[in-house]
Amino acid sequence: MTERFLADDAAVDVGADRSDIDAAIAALCETLPPMDNRLLDAVRYSLRSPGKRLRGILVCASYRVAGGGGDVSGLAAAVEMLHAYSLAHDDLPCMDNDDIRRGRATTHRVSGVPVTVVAGAAMIPLAVRAAADSVGNMHRGALRVVPVIAALMQAAGARGMIGGQLQDLNAEGTRADSLEKLERIHRAKTGALIAVSARVGGIAAGADDDAVKALGSFGADIGLAFQIVDDVLDVTSSSTALGKSVGRDAELGKSTYPALLGVDGAMARAVELARHGCNTLHAHNLLSRELRHLADLVITRTN
Ligand code: IPE
Ligand code: IPE
Ligand code: MG
Ligand code: MG
Ligand code: MG
Repeated sequence: MTERFLADDAAVDVGADRSDIDAAIAALCETLPPMDNRLLDAVRYSLRSPGKRLRGILVCASYRVAGGGGDVSGLAAAVEMLHAYSLAHDDLPCMDNDDIRRGRATTHRVSGVPVTVVAGAAMIPLAVRAAADSVGNMHRGALRVVPVIAALMQAAGARGMIGGQLQDLNAEGTRADSLEKLERIHRAKTGALIAVSARVGGIAAGADDDAVKALGSFGADIGLAFQIVDDVLDVTSSSTALGKSVGRDAELGKSTYPALLGVDGAMARAVELARHGCNTLHAHNLLSRELRHLADLVITRTN
């Protein structure tokens, strides 16, 4: 149904990156600073649960295309930690009130709401520390720590992910009243973290500003496409396939792409964005097979 950008993408395997990221996450979980045991359990539970690790894989692929040759899995794990915090909070009763995530009980269903609120907040400085350690230990990394952390915090902040989450809540019940507004919400709540994943991969590799900008633009395009497909899957898929509840967006009166454009219209927009992102990278000589494959995955994924 959906066009693929890479005819022979079977040759591209992101499994090694995923294993490296999972290993880095496991190592992070073993080296967390002393904290309340219930907090520790909640942080570990949400971090270790089996996600796709798309953002982390994007860090790795962007790092390599920008010339990085070292081990970037610690930075990828730090980005996954920010993502894990965003999911733990997204599922809270005061937000989307969800019981299932990654095929398991949501963090607050296991640890309770207060501990989950604190665990989510605690994961932000823990992610900063993990990112700083990872980049600081790279060849010529010392100078790149501050730009990486600044980019991550800006993307996670009030003008990025967490600001987008509030806009998403504020728009509940209004349905999708304008495509512009919906795009703004989706670019902030989901696009910002995916865009910065590509950017920090480039920054950590020492890419120049033009290359970092192109990677960020690609990430922003596939990040918006990713949330469009997430909205579509909420309508067309099953809880078993997704490992999370389906039909919640309609129940909560969320603003979504399929509500505004229909499933086919939404998918057409996602494909257009993925193609635009690939064209941007191509124009900068940065379109590796891996990055093309990730653009493919975003629009063809089934979970
Ligand atoms: C879910 O993200 C939240 C959104 C931004 C749509 P993912 O679909 O990447 O979740 P995991 O990490 O694979 O569980
Ligand atoms: C989540 O969007 C965005 C963030 C976590 C920042 P959704 O609310 O659509 O994600 P799911 O569908 O619960 O995974
Ligand atoms: Mg949400
Ligand atoms: Mg949600
Ligand atoms: Mg969703």
